[in-house]
Amino acid sequence: MPASPKGPAMSSAAFPHMVTAGVPGPRSQELHARACRLMKGYSSQVRLFPVVFEKGEGVSLTDVDGNTYLDFSSGIYVTSLGHCHPKVSEAVARYAHTLMNCHDFTTPIKVALLEKLEQVLPGDLSGMQLYDSGTTAVEAGMRLCRAATDKWEFLSCFRDFHGKTLGAVSCAVFKGTDGPTRAPGFHMLPRPDPYRPHWTKPDGTIDTDAYLAYYDQYLREGTAGKAAAFVLEPVQGWAGSVFPPDDFFPKLRRFCDDRGLLLMADEVLTCMGRTGTWLCMEHWDVVPDVVTLGKGLGNGFPVTAMIARAPYSEAVERISASTSYGGNPMACAAALAAIEVIEEENLLDHSAMLGELMLSRMHEMQRRHPIIGHVRGKGCLLGIELVKDQRTKEPFDEAGARVYQRAFEKGLAWIPAGHILRMSPPIIMSPELALKGLEMIEDAIAETERELGYG
Ligand SMILES: Cc1ncc(COP(=O)(O)O)c(C=O)c1O
Repeated sequence: MPASPKGPAMSSAAFPHMVTAGVPGPRSQELHARACRLMKGYSSQVRLFPVVFEKGEGVSLTDVDGNTYLDFSSGIYVTSLGHCHPKVSEAVARYAHTLMNCHDFTTPIKVALLEKLEQVLPGDLSGMQLYDSGTTAVEAGMRLCRAATDKWEFLSCFRDFHGKTLGAVSCAVFKGTDGPTRAPGFHMLPRPDPYRPHWTKPDGTIDTDAYLAYYDQYLREGTAGKAAAFVLEPVQGWAGSVFPPDDFFPKLRRFCDDRGLLLMADEVLTCMGRTGTWLCMEHWDVVPDVVTLGKGLGNGFPVTAMIARAPYSEAVERISASTSYGGNPMACAAALAAIEVIEEENLLDHSAMLGELMLSRMHEMQRRHPIIGHVRGKGCLLGIELVKDQRTKEPFDEAGARVYQRAFEKGLAWIPAGHILRMSPPIIMSPELALKGLEMIEDAIAETERELGYG
């Protein structure tokens, strides 16, 4: 089995370690009931398994009853280097004692971070602004696209997710509670999902050119002719780790270039080694005009970025970078430390290796289980789609909820998404523990199949 990177103790014998008769345990139940009196709007992840966590270390999470779980979610794609990575925690603590905030003035640690980002990112991505959430970075990206083109419409894709403010919601998955409508000028298009294609070639494979032909017609006939940019996730995260076919982004890059559109890649979820590269777009050799970074960038400390290619630097200058918290010294220190850990511990390669190992095990699982319709992933961003019938591909939401709960009861902390099982373990995980997590998922799938009358 391939070697593990350095890092906190990760013996597969140590956890999961469940000490209460049932989970969530009594203390979790008591605290969560108190929280629910005041805190409203919990995610389905919490509602389906209302555990109360107290401590995180490396790839483990411990609840208030003393049960220790294996972390297969990295928070929500955030703590890629594991919980409380000593180097990141020390960096934050150092600046918590020296300088917490000085608006958007330059600090030595900010300079060090900006230069490091320029060094590791591909192409000429060099016009930078720092923010404190993925959503604010996405909004800044859209402001920049408008400033750089003097246009105001955006194209994006169904089932993308970009955040919860008006602009971000308007180019993303839209629910009744998001408002009466999208903001004007936002246009949604289908994107190629290899498992559920709209357009296929005669041999049954996905027809990327047909998608682009549709985009072309839409651009000409469905917009006001003022489209600034195509905004999209490299891999759809919320929608269930949906990877596009390999020819999609190279063709989309040409499509945008030919029509004077900027290509904005929202890499908030996919950046910093999540899929085995700094930017996920590197898998397809495509440099976006604008990119957003977040989540794993600060390994848990809120730090995000919006970065544009050199030709747009002057336009970046015209949109103000001033925010209360963006780029504060603690945030810069966290991000710089996280990047250094990824480099020192060779974690891009490790993430890629884990992805190959896990995907091959997931293919084996698929052969054994009738409710597994599709498996996919790269690096530590993976998904399993559950269906009622492999032929009809009807989504199996009830199975998704049960598998999530059964695996959590066994000690796997992870993320549900309806009928799709989303997996995003920390990229420092040992191969042994990655396979152990999958074994827990497979056991939960087998139990669910029995409960629901399959096999
Ligand atoms: C691709 C993508 N963009 C933007 C966001 C919003 O980030 P935040 O929750 O930090 O505002 C998310 C969050 O899940 C995301 O996955």
